[in-house]
Amino acid sequence: MGINLKPDELIYPYFVIGGSGKEEAIRSFPGVFRFSIDRLIKDIEKLHTIGIDKILLFGVPERKDASGSHAYKDGNIIAIAVKAIKKEFPDIVVMTDVCLCAYTTHGHCGILRGQGWSIDNRKTLDALSKIALSHAEAGADWVAPSAMAKKQVLAIRNALDKHGHKKTKVLGYSAKFASNFYGPFRNAADSSPKFGDRHAYQLNFADGKAALEEIKADIKEGADAVMVKPALSYLDVIKEARTKFPDATLAAYNVSGEYAFVKYGARAGLWDEEKMAIEILTSIKRAGADLIITYHAKDAARWLRKS
Ligand code: PBG
Repeated sequence: MGINLKPDELIYPYFVIGGSGKEEAIRSFPGVFRFSIDRLIKDIEKLHTIGIDKILLFGVPERKDASGSHAYKDGNIIAIAVKAIKKEFPDIVVMTDVCLCAYTTHGHCGILRGQGWSIDNRKTLDALSKIALSHAEAGADWVAPSAMAKKQVLAIRNALDKHGHKKTKVLGYSAKFASNFYGPFRNAADSSPKFGDRHAYQLNFADGKAALEEIKADIKEGADAVMVKPALSYLDVIKEARTKFPDATLAAYNVSGEYAFVKYGARAGLWDEEKMAIEILTSIKRAGADLIITYHAKDAARWLRKS
């Protein structure tokens, strides 16, 4: 007895680039690629046949500026990708990351105030709302704000409602810690801060209480689902959120560094990749997550089928 993981509880993240025929390997991120849209469609087809029906998209733009405007301009990479995916696979649940860090020259998740590196929350909410709207207009089922800007869920919910996108759901990256586990992701999205760090807006890993406050606030602001990120070092937070908010849809992000541990350890002969990944994913579900965003999703779906 016990817990059985299912493929439809897993969400696979994709990094999308411009051009065509591209499938780029990423430094220190084995098994994960940046796909141009044509290749992305081919990959989703494979994903679909193994039982994964939810994806999360990250854009890697060709150009950046101080305000991250390429994240929401007409014809932005994610809007094009979402349209293409929805046309080909109408029943795939498409979620989009809503943030600025991959689109700003400074690599921060918000718009900066003057010359310093404090975040201008009002301008950031404005930009995030525009991004969310452009994704919703393209047909995204869910938008997932990950900038940790104050009241980002509320601002996005209001913007969506005002423009007739009442059905588009919001997944808040509610409890997102300033973590050391994001290394491979930042190589993939080219989104490292060029100066300073993210401690001003992401959570202190020594403080579990603040995380629960953030989750509570996002639920109040109208989030359809909330998230704890990373997952493995934060199982206590997942468990506590599950207990405190039993009715909430709770997602956990098994992030790039957690995935890389498993991969590199397996390569070094320390453990079996399949067994290790299944143990980790099962523990995240056991702690209380309804949905798990994970780079293991493709392999896990295959492993789960054969067992
Ligand atoms: C930021 C963002 C990050 C991840 C997803 N969105 C990390 C960061 O703060 O740099 C990390 C995900 C991962 O490591 O897999 N918008």
